[in-house]
Amino acid sequence: MTLFNVYPLYDIEPVKAQGSYLWDKNGQQYLDLYGGHAVISIGHTHPVYVRRLTQQLKNIGFYSNSVKIPSQEELADKLGKISGLKDYYLFLVNSGAEANENALKLASFYNGRKKVIAFTKGFHGRTSAAVAATDNPAIKAPINFDDHVQILPFNDVEAVKRAIDTNTCAVIVEGIQGVGGIQVASDEFLKTIRKACDKTGAIFIHDSVQCGYGRSGKFFSFQHSGVKPDIISTAKGMGNGFPIGSILISPRFQAKHGMLGTTFGGNHLACTAANAVLDVIKKEKLVQNAATVGDYFFENLKGFSGIKELRGKGLMIGIEFEQPVEPIRNALLFDQKIFTGVAGKHTMRLLPSLALTTKEADIFLDALKKVLAKV
Ligand SMILES: Cc1ncc(COP(=O)(O)O)c(C=O)c1O
Repeated sequence: MTLFNVYPLYDIEPVKAQGSYLWDKNGQQYLDLYGGHAVISIGHTHPVYVRRLTQQLKNIGFYSNSVKIPSQEELADKLGKISGLKDYYLFLVNSGAEANENALKLASFYNGRKKVIAFTKGFHGRTSAAVAATDNPAIKAPINFDDHVQILPFNDVEAVKRAIDTNTCAVIVEGIQGVGGIQVASDEFLKTIRKACDKTGAIFIHDSVQCGYGRSGKFFSFQHSGVKPDIISTAKGMGNGFPIGSILISPRFQAKHGMLGTTFGGNHLACTAANAVLDVIKKEKLVQNAATVGDYFFENLKGFSGIKELRGKGLMIGIEFEQPVEPIRNALLFDQKIFTGVAGKHTMRLLPSLALTTKEADIFLDALKKVLAKV
C-alpha cells in the first residue's frame, strides 16, 4: 500500500523538536514560526506536557464516553476560568472541522432552521457542513455544495444587516481569518453580527480554531471586540499537537442525551494534553507573551521595505509582500532554516508557539532582511 498523495511535501524530515525549534534527520536545526498550521501553542515537547502525557499513558489511554472521565470536567473548569466563559458548556471532539460541524448542527437543533451565513475567504474545515460554509469551491465535492449557505463579503456591515433574518439558522465567522490571509474582523462587523443574531434568533458561531487559545493576545480574538458568541469552536493549539477540538456552548442551549456524540472526543490522553496546555499557558503567562512578542514583530516589521500590508493580532501575523511570497518563504526555509506559512500568492503567515521570545523573533527579522535584499 502507498499513501494517497494529497499533500505537496518539502523534502525535510523532522525527527526532534523542542520549544520553537525542530531538527531534521541530518541534525539540521530549524526555527519554527508556523507550528504545523498554528497547532504548537506552548512549544514543542514542553516538559510538563510530555510528563503528564507519559504518566497518563501508563495509567489509561482511552475509554469511551460511557464512563466517567474526570479530566473532561477538569478541562471544562480550567477553560471556563481562563477564557472568562465560566457559564458556558463544553463538548469535546477531535478536530476543527468536527467542532464546526457540531456547532452548526447544534444551532440547527436549537432554532430548527437551515440557512447558514458565512463569509468570503472563510475556512471552516473539510467535513460536510463545515466545507459548505467554506468559501473555496476547489475543496468542495459535488455533494458538499449546499444551497443553505450564503457567502457574504467579509467585514461588510451592511450586507450582514440585510442578510440575517428570521430564516437564518447561524452565522459562522473567524475573528481573524487564517487560511484567508490573516484578515481581522472589525469590531463593528462582529457587533453587527451579534445584534442581528439577537434580533432574529440566529446563532452566532465564532470559529476560534486558528485565532483562539491565546494566539491573538487575548484568550479569544472576539474578546478584543467585546462581543460574546453563542457557540465557539476550538482545536489547533488546544492540544499542542495531540488531536482535540471543542465547542463552548452558551448557557441558553440545553443538552439532551444523544444529541451530539463521538467515540474519541474527550478521551483520557486528549484531555490530559489539553489540561497540560492550559496549565502551561496560565503559569508561563503565554497569552500576555503572545501580545508582547506580537507587538514586537509589528513594531519591527514596520520598517521593512517590500511589505505592502501587515495584518493580525498577537502571534497571528500576516505579512503581505508586494512580490510573490513563495520565493521568500523558500529562501527562509532552505537558506535561513526558518519555517513560515503562506496564504494566497502574496501573504506570509506567522503562527509560532505562544512562548516565542523576542530573541527568536530577532532571528526571523534578521533573516527576512537578508532574504528581501536578495529575492
Ligand atoms: C479557522 C479554521 N477552522 C477550521 C479548521 C479545520 O480544522 P481541522 O483541520 O482540525 O479540521 C481550520 C484549519 O485550518 C481553520 O483554520
